[in-house]
Amino acid sequence: MAQRVRKAVLPVAGLGTRFLPATKAMPKEMLTVVDRPLIQYAVEECLAAGIEEFVFVTGRNKGALEDHFDHAYELEMTLANRGNKQAELKQTEQATIRPGNAIFTRQQKPLGLGHAVWCARHWIGREPFAVLLPDELMVSTPSCTAQLVAAHEKTGGNVVAVIDVPRAQTGSYGIVAVKAEKAGLAEMTGIVEKPRPEEAPSTLAWIGRSIVMPEVFDHLDKHEKGAGGEIQLTDAMAKLIGHQPFHALRYTGGRYDCGNRLGFLEANIAVALGRADSAAETRALLGRLLKG
Ligand code: UTP
Repeated sequence: MAQRVRKAVLPVAGLGTRFLPATKAMPKEMLTVVDRPLIQYAVEECLAAGIEEFVFVTGRNKGALEDHFDHAYELEMTLANRGNKQAELKQTEQATIRPGNAIFTRQQKPLGLGHAVWCARHWIGREPFAVLLPDELMVSTPSCTAQLVAAHEKTGGNVVAVIDVPRAQTGSYGIVAVKAEKAGLAEMTGIVEKPRPEEAPSTLAWIGRSIVMPEVFDHLDKHEKGAGGEIQLTDAMAKLIGHQPFHALRYTGGRYDCGNRLGFLEANIAVALGRADSAAETRALLGRLLKG
C-alpha cells in the first residue's frame, strides 16, 4: 500500500522578475487573486487533500508570507471589538496554519526549483511529499493535489499533473513521454525540459503540482545544473523513471499561470466569475468595460 502523503513543499524563493516592480519588496506568492494571496490558495488546496504539514522554502523579502499564516493579534482584537466585522474576523483567523505545522527554511540563492526542493530535505525525511508551485493557481473540486494524492494511493510512487498544450508551446514546459493512458493516468517513460515543438515526445506538459518520492533527494544532492544553468527538479525526477512507479495524471480543472501578468489577470476574472458573491457584479463590470 502507498505511504500516505502528509507533507507539502512550497517553493517560494524565486525572484519573480516577470512581475517587477510589484515583486521588488513583496513576494510574488503574496499577489492577491480577488481577496486572498496565491500562497493561501496553495495551502487550502493541500488541506483539501488531507495534507497538513508545510515546508515553505523562502528567500529574501519573504517575511510577509510567514506573517500571513500567523495570528494578527491587534487586527483580530480590533475586528472582534467591532460588532459588524465578525465575517472579516473569521476570514482572518482562517488564514492560519495549526501551530507547529509549518517550517520556513531559506534558499539563500535562487539556484533553481530543484535546489529549492532540496533545501526542504531534512524536514521531509524519507516519505512521499507534494510539491506545489504557488504561482500556478488551480481551481477544481477535488483539488488538483487531492487528484494527485488519490492517484498516488492507487499506483504508489511519483505522480505529476499534466495538461495538453498546443505543440507550438512545448518550449515553455517540461514535456512528458507516456505509455497508453487509462482514465487520465499513464505510466511515464521520460520527460524533456522545454523541448522544441518538433522534438517534443508529446504535448502533455507537466504543470506545477507533483507527488514526489524522497529518493529524488539522492539525485538533487549532486547539484547538477540543467536548462538555464539552474538545478532543475525535472532532471532529478527523470532519473527516477524506470526505478520506481512514475505516472502522469491528466489534471481536470482550471489552471492559471499567475507568474505572468495576463495569466494573473485571467485568474482574477475567472475566480470572481466563479464565486457566488461576486459573479453577477463581475459580469456586469466586464460588460461595461467591453462596451467601452
Ligand atoms: P519561476 O520559474 O516562475 O521563477 O519559479 P521566478 O523567479 O519565481 O519568477 P520569474 O520567472 O523570475 O518571473 C517557479 C516556482 O519555483 C520557485 C518560485 O518561487 C516559484 O514558486 N523557485 C524558483 C524557487 O523557490 N527557487 C528558485 O531558485 C527558482
